[in-house]
Parts: sequence; structure tokens; C-alpha cells
Amino acid sequence: MEKSFNGLNVLLTAGPTYEPIDPVRFIGNHSTGKMGYALAECFASHGAKVQLVSGPTNLKAQHPAITVTPVTTADEMYQAVQALAPDAAVLVFAAAVADYKPKVVADKKIKKEGDDMTIELVRNVDIAAALGKTKKEGQFSVGFALETDNESRNARQKLEKKNLDMIVLNSLNDPGAGFRHDTNKITIIERDATTAFELKQKSEVAQDIVNLIWERLHA
Ligand code: CTP
Repeated sequence: MEKSFNGLNVLLTAGPTYEPIDPVRFIGNHSTGKMGYALAECFASHGAKVQLVSGPTNLKAQHPAITVTPVTTADEMYQAVQALAPDAAVLVFAAAVADYKPKVVADKKIKKEGDDMTIELVRNVDIAAALGKTKKEGQFSVGFALETDNESRNARQKLEKKNLDMIVLNSLNDPGAGFRHDTNKITIIERDATTAFELKQKSEVAQDIVNLIWERLHA
């Protein structure tokens, strides 16, 4: 059967966040945004209207049904997501949000002094968890987890903590999975189901995720 998301609003986060230290430096991570952008294209090609809230990446959304809101920091990503969430039927948190940000951002470039330096960090907002608290009846939400050990137990804990319906688990123990690869090997964990997939191209992985979401929405 054709898996159509006709007219359904899908909200996605993608890419890294950059947390400024001073006007020329930031704390970031190696996320390329490929998985999130692949999901956006896949949802759009199945008829969804996609809002893609994206951290800094080199990627360009192709499909006309994708609207990109570019953001830099976790706080900006959270604000954008909060504004768009009330209209979304499906929320997918694929961004690699920095867990911490500098407590103070220097307004001038920090000059070097002495042999060591310390930057005090404070926790960033957990966007998925915050949206989990305000989740409306009928909204379906999906998160990602990257684990090295106790994989499925940790993923299940995140499912509960963030009030998600589905969590896509990437194992760093699998060669070819994770950052900087075009391939990924995932296991999808739900409250009462676990589905393991083979190592595949990220575009095919996106299709597997979208298919399973479609099945759950039409169960
Ligand atoms: N997430 C988020 N906002 C954050 C941190 C994470 O929305 N500030 C989302 C991510 O987009 C992803 C999931 O939550 O969907 C990842 O959860 P997290 O607890 O960060 O897991 P890990 O990245 O695996 O990190 P850790 O286990 O070290 O906490």
C-alpha cells in the first residue's frame, strides 16, 4: 500500500548545535545532519509538510514541501521547535544537541593567559524531554540515541524519560554506523516492540523509520 502522509505536519530537528564561547569560538560536535535531512526528504516525498529546524550544516533541503528554520544554539532550536510544535502531528528529534553550553559568553575574543584555562558549562535544555511534557493527545514523537553499552536498557530509559513513542538506537559498536558515515545500522525500540535493521545507506534507513511511523499511525 502507498504510505501517504498527505498534508500531515512533521516537525524535525537535525544537525549539531553550536554553543558560543566568545565571538570567534564555540563548542560543537561532528553531526552532519545527514540523517535528519534524509528523513525530511523521505517524509516530504510521501506527502508530508515538513518543518525542519536545523543546526549548522552544509546540507540543502531539496523537496519544496520542506521549510527550513536555521538555528545555531540549543536555546534557539528549542524556541523554534516550541513555536512549531502545536501544529505538528509527528515530531522527530534527530539533532545532536550540545548537552552543555558555556555559563557566560565573552563579548570580546578571549586572549590566552597562563598554561591552562577553564570554561564553566551549564546544562542545555533537553528539547525532546521538554516537548515530551507538553505532548498533545495524538502527537507521535521519535528520538534518537547513540549508545556504547547497555544499549537497549538505556534507550528504553530515554523513551520513558522523554515521553517518546519510538527511539531509534544507533550502536557505536556497529562498524559503519554513526557520525561521518553514509550508512547506519539501527534498532527501533518502542514500549512493546523492538525491530532490528541491517546496515544500510542513510536514505534507506530514513525510509525504514518513516515506514514504521506510518504503520504505527495507521494501526
Ligand atoms: N535531545 C534533545 N535535546 C537535548 C539533548 C538531546 O532534543 N538537549 C534529543 C536528541 O535529539 C535525541 C535524544 O534526545 O533524539 C538523545 O538523547 P540524549 O539523552 O542526549 O542521548 P545521547 O545523545 O545518547 O546522550 P547521553 O546518553 O550521553 O545523555
